[in-house]
Amino acid sequence: MKEKQLTITYTEYSSVQEMEPLDRALCEAAVEAIDGSYAIYSHFCVGAAVRLSDGTVVKGANQENAAYPSGLCAERTAMFSAGALYPDKDMVSIAIAARQDGHLCSEPAAPCGACRQVMAQYQTKAGKPMSVLLVGAESVLKFSRVDDLLPLIFDNI
Ligand code: THU
Repeated sequence: MKEKQLTITYTEYSSVQEMEPLDRALCEAAVEAIDGSYAIYSHFCVGAAVRLSDGTVVKGANQENAAYPSGLCAERTAMFSAGALYPDKDMVSIAIAARQDGHLCSEPAAPCGACRQVMAQYQTKAGKPMSVLLVGAESVLKFSRVDDLLPLIFDNI
């Protein structure tokens, strides 16, 4: 028997202004993407933006439905859209932002488990790390690979 530890490393920025230009632009795209949110039940509006290997940015926002499970998170809306529109391009980075009561949330928006699993799949497909940027009004977090948000990823099949 052996006790083991997992260490997660990430960078915290006090604002998007501190970030390198490509990351900053993707965070701004995620904030813009919030406008596409259809969140009439939760009123929690989420935007996501995916950057592809050629620099293309694909935006998505959460889409709710009266049959609750039929709705979809912003991250998966963006990633599935990017996957469907640009099947031959790798996803290199994803940024996520959320708005509540008309204001960008102060805490960084953290993706749900299902979205993390989908990120992991596209990272595996690309064969390269996909960075994840979580945008908040008071701090922004950068994880350089999906593994840092989803240790012991399931990708065995
Ligand atoms: N939501 C996202 O869009 N992304 C997440 O990672 C967490 C939750 C959405 C789903 C639903 O429309 C609303 O936020 C409240 O859960």
